[in-house]
Amino acid sequence: MAGALACGAAAVPPAVAEQIQSLRGGASVDEPDQAPPVYPIKEGRNFERSFRDQPPLIPHRIDKYEIDLKVNQCLRCHDWPNNTQEHAPLISVAHFLDRDGKKLDRVAPQRWVCTSCHVTQADAKALVPNRFRSEMDR
Ligand code: HEC
Ligand code: HEC
Repeated sequence: MAGALACGAAAVPPAVAEQIQSLRGGASVDEPDQAPPVYPIKEGRNFERSFRDQPPLIPHRIDKYEIDLKVNQCLRCHDWPNNTQEHAPLISVAHFLDRDGKKLDRVAPQRWVCTSCHVTQADAKALVPNRFRSEMDR
């Protein structure tokens, strides 16, 4: 046991450490992380969805719209009936279903934090190289 622990705690030999590339690059565990790049929001034209159930990307700024326990300013424009005056798309019917599929009068609690699914659109680079292709391009 003591032997295994000692072995687990041993530093990775420098030659091996150089080959390990995580999202943090070759940085060691105790080094501070580099801030991820900030890509500007692409306002205006809506990006196409890449797959059928993709939460659509947000084509406008959201930094002034608060979401907390009591307040959700997204709903000021995206919930019925305000959406008609604001000419904003209404949250889809799925957003009114609770986890048992029962229809509610108000947005379902599990949809409250909009930004856990919807993010602002940007020409962001993929974090890791991959071969994903949008369903629109196939
Ligand atoms: C002041 C009104 C307003 C507020 C507040 C607002 N939106 Fe919007 N939103 C709009 C309008 C208008 C559009 C349609 C713009 C367009 O499609 O060009 C839109 C578009 C969107 C879309 C794209 C829908 C689609 O089908 O492509 C998403 C997603 C969205 N908003 C999410 C949010 C979220 C999340 C918040 C809160 C963080 C929010 N919005 C706050 C007015 C608003
Ligand atoms: C659990 C993930 C999730 C959360 C949380 C969520 N959405 Fe969505 N949203 C989706 C998905 C997936 C779609 C596309 C499928 C659909 O239309 O139901 C969508 C669609 C939309 C659309 C487009 C509707 C249309 O008919 O084109 C709008 C607008 C939207 N959401 C706004 C919001 C707002 C505002 C909130 C917060 C109150 C929110 N969403 C919370 C996943 C989510």
